[in-house]
Amino acid sequence: MSAEHDTGSGASAWFADQTFWDDFYPHLFSAERAAEAERIVERSPLFRFPSGARVLDLCCGPGLFTVPLARAGHAVTGVDLSAPLLDRARTRCREAGVKARFVEADMLGFAEPEAFDAVVNMFTSFGYLHRHEDNVQVLRNAHTSLAPGGTLLVDLVGKEILARRDERVSLSELDGKVLVQRDTILDDWSRLRSDWYSIEGSRAATGSMTLHLYSAAELRDMLRSAGFTGVRFHGDYEGGPYDHRAERLIAVATKGVDARGN
Ligand SMILES: C[S@@+](CC[C@H](N)C(=O)[O-])C[C@H]1O[C@@H](n2cnc3c(N)ncnc32)[C@H](O)[C@@H]1O
Repeated sequence: MSAEHDTGSGASAWFADQTFWDDFYPHLFSAERAAEAERIVERSPLFRFPSGARVLDLCCGPGLFTVPLARAGHAVTGVDLSAPLLDRARTRCREAGVKARFVEADMLGFAEPEAFDAVVNMFTSFGYLHRHEDNVQVLRNAHTSLAPGGTLLVDLVGKEILARRDERVSLSELDGKVLVQRDTILDDWSRLRSDWYSIEGSRAATGSMTLHLYSAAELRDMLRSAGFTGVRFHGDYEGGPYDHRAERLIAVATKGVDARGN
């Protein structure tokens, strides 16, 4: 793990611990989610990238979005910190008969100047870095990696969506595995800790993730300070508004085509 991810207390960053991704893999990367990713890439107006676009799937995990993006004819690069998840993404591509390039890298450092027409960061893969400025740096890296006129898409659970929920504990079941999630708001709504418990028969696993929570207005400021010009928000993949019914916070930000960012 790189020194940048020291949490300040000397503890390792949760997202660099492979055990978390292994223990919760069946819940995070289920067949249902893979099918949903396929549907989103096929049908969402937010995913209409030019034919043959160079797409960076930032924090690609096991490639749930990488595969349908490659199948749609895009030249896809998947970047992730986890070598085992990248191996799974390679296998998923092989099995689907599609090609993609994979890079094991940290989103805090990864940038390839003007190498992409679109960058996607899906399924709440943002806000992980302990320092707020490091999360802004991730957006700056995406801006650097985009060609002028390129688009960044970030898909999160927004602060407004969490504030609307009454329940702080949720329970779900998948193939006999029970998942309990308990959310705790930290630092006056700046951050969220989500404690996870997975139970299968007599086997139980626990894990915890802590991430920065952003409202649309806060994310807009971050995107602008990272250099993005056009910034808009949606509350679902159909391109609906980010309002009181929003299910996701989806930011769509454009890199300007001239030196003034227009
Ligand atoms: C919630 S998963 C989402 C994966 C994928 N986008 C999807 O929709 O299935 C978050 C991913 O971010 C990756 N990740 C976490 N911290 C990272 C970092 N600092 N740099 C690059 N990838 C990171 C994890 O390894 C994991 O694959």
